[in-house]
Amino acid sequence: MNYEDARTRVRAGEDARTVAAELVSKLTIDEKLECLDGDEDFWPGLMRLAGAATTRVAGEGYGAKPYLGAQVPRLGFPGIAFSDGPRGVVVGPNTCFPVSMARGATFDQDLEERIGDAIGLELRARGANLFGGVNVNVLRHPAWGRAQETYGEDPHHVGEMGAALCRGVQRHAMACVKHYALNSIDNARFKVDVTADDRALHEAYLPHFKRVIDEGVACVMSAYNSVNGEWCGENRQLLTEILREEWGFEGYVISDWIFGLRDGPKSVRNGLDIEMPFRAIRYKSLQTALDTGELTEADIEAPVTRIISTLLRFDDVLAQPAPDTSVCASPAHRELAYEASVKSIVLLKNGGSLLPIDPASIKRLAVLGRLASVPNLGDRGSSNVVPPSAVTPLDGLRAALPNADVTHDDGANIEIAKQTARAADVAIVFVGCTYEDEGEFISAQPELLAHTAPPRPADLQMPPRPPRDPNAPASPPPFATGGDRASLDLSEADQALVLAAAEANPRTIVVLMGGSAIMVEGWHERVPAILMAWYPGMEGGRAIADVILGRANPGGRLPFVVPTDAAHLPFFDREATAITYDLFHGQWLLDRDGHTPRYPFGFGLSYSPATVRNASVQLQSETIVVTATAVNEGNRATSEVVQVYAGARDSNVERPEWRLAAFQRVELAPRESRHVRLEILLDRLAVRIDGRWAVEPGAYHIAVGRHAHDPQATIVRIDVP
Ligand code: BGC
Repeated sequence: MNYEDARTRVRAGEDARTVAAELVSKLTIDEKLECLDGDEDFWPGLMRLAGAATTRVAGEGYGAKPYLGAQVPRLGFPGIAFSDGPRGVVVGPNTCFPVSMARGATFDQDLEERIGDAIGLELRARGANLFGGVNVNVLRHPAWGRAQETYGEDPHHVGEMGAALCRGVQRHAMACVKHYALNSIDNARFKVDVTADDRALHEAYLPHFKRVIDEGVACVMSAYNSVNGEWCGENRQLLTEILREEWGFEGYVISDWIFGLRDGPKSVRNGLDIEMPFRAIRYKSLQTALDTGELTEADIEAPVTRIISTLLRFDDVLAQPAPDTSVCASPAHRELAYEASVKSIVLLKNGGSLLPIDPASIKRLAVLGRLASVPNLGDRGSSNVVPPSAVTPLDGLRAALPNADVTHDDGANIEIAKQTARAADVAIVFVGCTYEDEGEFISAQPELLAHTAPPRPADLQMPPRPPRDPNAPASPPPFATGGDRASLDLSEADQALVLAAAEANPRTIVVLMGGSAIMVEGWHERVPAILMAWYPGMEGGRAIADVILGRANPGGRLPFVVPTDAAHLPFFDREATAITYDLFHGQWLLDRDGHTPRYPFGFGLSYSPATVRNASVQLQSETIVVTATAVNEGNRATSEVVQVYAGARDSNVERPEWRLAAFQRVELAPRESRHVRLEILLDRLAVRIDGRWAVEPGAYHIAVGRHAHDPQATIVRIDVP
């Protein structure tokens, strides 16, 4: 029996797990062990990555080719071929979408599913079969360097968006959800132990993983950090008790890269299937563990069976012929990136209805700030997608205003910037973060490396550095930059530029770029208009120009709270070795402590006044049925996100005052009204009591509105028997 025979039998209706187990029994011990780690030897692999880290060319470097694992050539088992994400497919060049946080701001599951579909096609065209870009770690604190890779702070919202991406991708390939779990400090990720009790785990940090698993995701990637005293790659509570026994996950678990586990045999026993990406800890330790009886053959057969049975279950998807590379960054996918960028841009302030700007009113436009003229697409870590080209904000504005004098000044000299702003009809200031301020961070880990690596072959040399183009701008190697932010404020230079522009020109628009919350205290009251444009993807410049000039409506809503004081957020230490995560962060924490935010969760303005009317809430057996009408009161096309929050009034336990329970984005033509119907299973009101889910009887308030604490929300009481 070989893999082809196994496929035939599963196609004929046999159970994938039974067939996989039979195939596994035909493997030699060596072949079984080969399935339990990546297919590349450690040192050549590491050298390849280290050498590659010095290049930043599409098609080379970290994302040069898929990472392979678990192949068994003798029996024709293809194994996994992994490419990163989430802002597209890293093995490229490919479409670079807005980062996940921007896509979170769209609150648009349908769009996210279409992005997933495009990603799945590009992934297959690049020879991969597993997409490692469904990142659903909730944003506990906006300083997290990798905030941009997830969708926001709210577990329900993050879960729905992650599930949508997974649905789209899995039409063409397998998806991998990561980093399981409680991974939300980057600088400390290799050393931090996160303590979380049952309620914090199940109510705040795991529901979104469960949601993506219920969607049928093929693969889970364990996190680097440890949880409740055990590294995630060998954590019995997470990998076996919760993931498999409680949730019934039937796919396979891969480790995070290189340093994702410390103890090979323990990782096997506790539920990790593949150590990625090289032959490392397990290569050094599993054979001995079998010899000494620390592991049995059945122990190593269980993970191999899970891997093979998952691929068999995905056979109809994976058997579809891969498209050719013309799908990668195709016009249709670029258009999708544009749509996502438009729908993600959040209008935070629009004093005197300065926005949108009538293009006919602009003879001279001042574009200020260094971020205006660079493709600011996100961090340079594992999620770095290199597109064939990218439209900067300056490119977008120049193309949209062919008859205006569009002057760019990088703001290095404040006096010149002021003069430029003063001489213009409108000034647009681009400020915020780049990959140098935030992103994935890998510091040297000599001890971990020594622990992980097999002996280094004597003849192994570092590859020569490729010759550097003397004219290329200096660019630090990937990873050795970014990390968690030390401050949520704009840099002093950016604040000075904003204030100078606003002083010189009352028609000043601030465009913020970055992956999560940026504080606006100290300057927001001095500028009439503020937009959050994120890392907007390869078509971002076009989208930003169209939004500013009123050719498109800014459709985003904040997927996190922006406080007036960073002290209102949870304790965050980017060098922590131990930290406790409790139930409260983000909007929930501000609510608990009675702090009014600068901008609440779910907030965003529009160019056209919209309202949510006629809300009704009814409890029908096990389901809360919410209906409402979203109304565009104005003469421009717009969108609205109907948001439903639930709060328990008679609870016996401390819980968030309001929790997002459902949301629905609707597009509205001028003056259009659209009926919305949302169904919320009562289970969504459940809390963990004594380690079990329980829906407490009593009164609940259901708020139907446009953001958290919307003063115009309709609040209805329901009584749960
Ligand atoms: C990151 C993962 C990524 C992996 C492979 C790790 O450093 O934490 O998110 O998927 O590398 O590139």
